[in-house]
Amino acid sequence: MPEDDLVSRAMTHASPQGQATSPATPTTGHAIVVGVLAALAGLMFGLDTGVIAGALRFIGTDFDASPRMQEWIVSSMMAAAAVGSLIAGTISFRFGRRRALLGSSILFLLGSLISALAPSVTVLIIGRIFLGFAVGIAAFTAPLYISEVSAVAQRGSMIACYQLMMTGGIFLSYVTDGVLANGAHWRWMLGLMTVPATVFLIGCLFLPDSPRWLMMRGEKLRARTVMRYLRPSPQQADQEISDIATELTRGRSEGFSFFRNNANFRRSVGLGIVLQIMQQLTGINVLMYYAPKVFQAADFGASAAGWATALIGLINLVATCVAIVTVDRWGRRPLLLLSCAIMTGSMLLAGGLVEYGGHDTTAQIAMVGSLLVFVLGFAIGAGPLVWTLCAEIQPLRGRDFGIVCSTFTNWATNWAVSNTFLSVLDTLGEAHTFWLFAGMNALFIAITLFYVPETKGVSLENIESHLLAGWPLRDLGARSMPQDAKISTRPSA
Ligand code: BGC
Repeated sequence: MPEDDLVSRAMTHASPQGQATSPATPTTGHAIVVGVLAALAGLMFGLDTGVIAGALRFIGTDFDASPRMQEWIVSSMMAAAAVGSLIAGTISFRFGRRRALLGSSILFLLGSLISALAPSVTVLIIGRIFLGFAVGIAAFTAPLYISEVSAVAQRGSMIACYQLMMTGGIFLSYVTDGVLANGAHWRWMLGLMTVPATVFLIGCLFLPDSPRWLMMRGEKLRARTVMRYLRPSPQQADQEISDIATELTRGRSEGFSFFRNNANFRRSVGLGIVLQIMQQLTGINVLMYYAPKVFQAADFGASAAGWATALIGLINLVATCVAIVTVDRWGRRPLLLLSCAIMTGSMLLAGGLVEYGGHDTTAQIAMVGSLLVFVLGFAIGAGPLVWTLCAEIQPLRGRDFGIVCSTFTNWATNWAVSNTFLSVLDTLGEAHTFWLFAGMNALFIAITLFYVPETKGVSLENIESHLLAGWPLRDLGARSMPQDAKISTRPSA
């Protein structure tokens, strides 16, 4: 179906590096409002990621849940998000992006209600599964929808707005957790999520269908009406509609058959998968979900642990802003290397402090400091850049397939880490767990040095032609084939 190809092209635009195929056009306020409403999906994603951190210890006490059971409470959402991300492409293609977002907002609302009112751990896990499906579907559909309704000139910042909403959501949930921690009000922490979920649901009711999706379905008249609503002049709207029509004639995406037949495509899919595995093995979500536990294990009181966690959310938010403005100036490789080096150093230090640092206030401050530096390191590089690279390295013909593979891997590894962290902590002890993550971050440095290309300022078409000509992964963004480089695989069509 040519439709698949459009999805791929839209994902192309979803990357900050996305190459414009039509001249930049100013957008109307309508397109911005619509984009921001859809970006509320990012806020929900972040809120549900973060809220469990503060709620978990009270849930554990109330239900007398073992560490193993607590791992399931946290990680059931990630497992469902992995499944949700696999089916999100089909849902948003068959029923449309608007309905997929609407469906996810209903799941967000139901999931928040069920988990806040849960009479038992099993019901709580069911609520978390609802939330996981919602996150998996929304995390795929929202950036896609935003990229399809925004004008070229605003596309990058609208996608960035989505990422900011996500880290903003994590931060906000840490703050509400901090405020509600005093009375151990975990049901309120989870229940408050129904407020933004309702706002998101109402927002979704007002979203128009994506004009690109309507064109894929052959509904040109409706597509034009929506586009005229979103663009400042009918001429611009009509021009974009005819651009989309031209794109639709360019042939289809092949997905799995391309993967089976083309060794070079398998290399880019493999790199996307490895990058997402490494992103999760940095240990970021150990902090995102279990930070208060980590702080309490380091002798922090309940309230101090809550506020130290909120600080983590704030650093994550601010450093993501820094990454968004520097990535196109500094390039991907230097930022990623710096990010991994900072994470390795801070995890080494955190382990050292636990093992040899004592329990006085200075040691505690140093501990919070090292974990804050870790989050800063993650947010300036590995956090946003892995997503950027995963979209940039896939050739157009297989972009949606490649992105689904790497997104699924992100959630599956996220699930594996969050499902085993407390057991690992129990077995290895806190210091060795930190050192294990330090080792993983050092490995990430090696992988970046040997395999990650510099894609700054390189057109997606060039990256694609170098990949399909068999250039080594690290050189995909080079201007010319390096003298000493070996062609990795035979060029194949
Ligand atoms: C990761 C998430 C993580 C988030 C924290 C994202 O890039 O994929 O797993 O929770 O960053 O900001």
